[in-house]
Amino acid sequence: MVNISDIENFWTRGDIYSRVRQAMSAANLDNKNLDVEELFPIDQYHARGIAATIDLGKKMPISENQKILDIGCGLGGPARYYAKEFKCHITGIDITPSFIEIGNEFNRLTSMSSMIDLCLGNGEKLEFEDEVFDGAYSQHVTMNVSNRINFFSEAYRVLKKNSFFAFTEHGLGPKGDPIFPLPWADNSEMSFLLTPENTISILKDVGFIDIEIFETGDKYIQGYEKLIKGKTEERNPVLGIHVIGGPTMKERSSNSMQSIKENRTQPFEIICKK
Ligand SMILES: C[S@@+](CC[C@H](N)C(=O)[O-])C[C@H]1O[C@@H](n2cnc3c(N)ncnc32)[C@H](O)[C@@H]1O
Repeated sequence: MVNISDIENFWTRGDIYSRVRQAMSAANLDNKNLDVEELFPIDQYHARGIAATIDLGKKMPISENQKILDIGCGLGGPARYYAKEFKCHITGIDITPSFIEIGNEFNRLTSMSSMIDLCLGNGEKLEFEDEVFDGAYSQHVTMNVSNRINFFSEAYRVLKKNSFFAFTEHGLGPKGDPIFPLPWADNSEMSFLLTPENTISILKDVGFIDIEIFETGDKYIQGYEKLIKGKTEERNPVLGIHVIGGPTMKERSSNSMQSIKENRTQPFEIICKK
C-alpha cells in the first residue's frame, strides 16, 4: 500500500520552494501585492488549468458567505478563484505541507487570507465535525486515493444536508492500463483509477443522490495539446505548471493525453448532492 509520504514526495519533487521563488522573481511578481489572476499560470495544478476550474465553478451552486471545503487544495489556486468569484469562505486541506505553506503565502500576497484557510489534512480522515460545510469540491485528487469509500464517506459526513459535492478526476477507461509516468503518479503503485460506473456506485452506497456526470476527455486532449505545443514553441515560459511539476511534466502530460486518446483513461466531472 502506498504511504502518505510517497504521495507528498511525488508532489513536492525536490526543492519546490526554490523553484517557486526563482519563477516568481523572474516574472517580477515577488514580494508585492498581486491580483488572484496573476497566479493562474502557476497555481492551478491540474489539466486545463484555470479553464477547468471555471467550468467546475459553473456547476457548483455556491452562495455568498457559504462555508466551502476544498479537499486536496494544492497551492490553493482554485480556492482563491472561487472565494473571489462567489464571495464565499473556503477551507482547503492537502497532505503536501509545502503546497499548504506556499498556498498560504499566495493568499497573503493576493489579500485573500481572510476568506481562505489552508491547512494540512488527509481527505480519507477529515478533522472536522459532522455537517459543517455548505458544499465541498475536489479537483484531480481522487486518482491518488486508494480507499474511495473512506474519502467519499468523509466528504459526506462533513457536509450539511442538501449541500453539494463536486469533483473532477481521470477515471479508468474501457481499455485500462494507462501509460506511466502520469501527472498524478510515476507508476501504478500511486494510481487508483476506477471506472466512472464504479465511482457512481460507491457514491450511491455512501448516500449521495442526484449524481450527474460530465465527460471531459475531448477538452482535456485539447488542453494537453496546447500545453505541449506551448512548451515546444516558447522554450522557457517563466511561470507555468512545470515550475511545480518539475522537468518531467511534459512527458507526463503527453502520456496522460495519449491515455485518454487510447481509452485507457476517461476524465470526468461529477456533481451530486447529500
Ligand atoms: C493534481 S493536484 C490538484 C491540486 C488542486 N486541487 C488543484 O486543482 O490545483 C492533487 C493534489 O491532491 C493532494 N492529495 C493527494 N492525496 C490526498 C489526500 N488523501 N488527502 C488530501 N490531499 C491529497 C496532493 O497533495 C496534491 O496537492
